[in-house]
Amino acid sequence: MTLSEIQPVADHATDTETVWWMRNNFGPIRDELTVEGLEVRGTIPPELRGSYIRNGFNPPAAVPFHWFFGAGMVHGFEIADGKVSYRNRYVRTPFFESEVDLLTAMRDLRSSPANTNIVRHAGRLLALEEAHLPWELSADLSTIDSLDFDGALTTPMTAHPKICPVTGELLFFGYQFLKAPYLTYHRVDASGNLVQSEAIDIPRPIMMHDFTITEHYAIFFDLPIVFALEHGGFKFDREAGGRIGVMPRAGTNADVRWYDVDPCTVFHSVNSYESGDDIIVQVCRGESIMEGGMDDLSGHSVLWQWTLNTVTGAVLETQLDDRPGDFPRIDDRRVGLPARYGYVASLRPGVSPDFGAEIYKYDLEAGTSQVHTFGGAETHVFEPVFAPKRPDSAEDEGWMLVLTHNDSTNTTTLNVLDAQDFEGVAVAEVDLPQRVPFGAHGNWMPTLA
Ligand SMILES: [Fe+2]
Repeated sequence: MTLSEIQPVADHATDTETVWWMRNNFGPIRDELTVEGLEVRGTIPPELRGSYIRNGFNPPAAVPFHWFFGAGMVHGFEIADGKVSYRNRYVRTPFFESEVDLLTAMRDLRSSPANTNIVRHAGRLLALEEAHLPWELSADLSTIDSLDFDGALTTPMTAHPKICPVTGELLFFGYQFLKAPYLTYHRVDASGNLVQSEAIDIPRPIMMHDFTITEHYAIFFDLPIVFALEHGGFKFDREAGGRIGVMPRAGTNADVRWYDVDPCTVFHSVNSYESGDDIIVQVCRGESIMEGGMDDLSGHSVLWQWTLNTVTGAVLETQLDDRPGDFPRIDDRRVGLPARYGYVASLRPGVSPDFGAEIYKYDLEAGTSQVHTFGGAETHVFEPVFAPKRPDSAEDEGWMLVLTHNDSTNTTTLNVLDAQDFEGVAVAEVDLPQRVPFGAHGNWMPTLA
């Protein structure tokens, strides 16, 4: 397909009243605020020093044709000495500044909505989406410029790179759907230099939202949300099958070993690690999200594990829970290593994303779980993010940072939980000066001593 053959899908609703992503707490806010000294109920732990920054979809004016295509707005919480301040800013890319249409944005790697995640690596703060270049922000969340690693990055960058806690590398992939290679793997060293890019053969263009790493491997999900413009861009196609690709982290396409799995969808991995001859891959897995096209987010995902035997090639598929959940996180110091604990946001089944009032803490070693409930039907959680107490604290020794939104009061609250007293009352709650729309992802960035 060439760009000239692409036409926007005509039947997409663009009426604020009819699209769910413009309503309630999915809808955008307008003001960019800077507010210091927010009122804290309870006590912010003195060891909690740093920034919790989130990114999400926040169209400035025109109604985007999909939730995923609103321009990015970042929300930052500075925490130190028991105090919390808040600021939010649009990510000022060409996509935002010109409100460029999608076709224009698809032609230009810089025209990113920059709306999905924000990570810090090698001193750079990067706002990420998955079909464009990353955008660098300053510490005060103002926009600096797009980043292409001195011209070395020529593909999009996923919104879900992985920072290896052992080597400090930033590992990521980019997928593209208008031309091959449909998948490219990239490796950035701990100093922030792009040192490797490898085209990976996959049979067709697909939406690939996340990947995962172990200490020695990069792991790709070749799952069948296939490019299908007549269905709004992408559509689940069971016939296309499902595979997991395992490649040595400094390897090439020729080194990738593919493992067949039942066709399914994975938006987010929990973690993966090596265990003897096995590679354990833990994800939130859906049976068939986007079966009706890109607008169809009605499927839901549950915690799942694949065990890939690197000697025999055998795959063991294990469902670990039946409660819908997604936006999984671990203690990021365990990325690619055995991680005992996973933290997941509950979801309520529905035709559009409906975040529940609970977060789950899975003990992946013991096969048990705990629940923290923030409220009733009017309460919705965001992605639960873990912040360690100290750099050398044990896994899970620290806090959960969780935003919740209350539909009745239309307020968003930053909750701080003791991760090791997961079901106990929050140690601190901070009502925010404006609501924060349900967005995508964020990260804790501790103050560097
Ligand atoms: Fe994501």
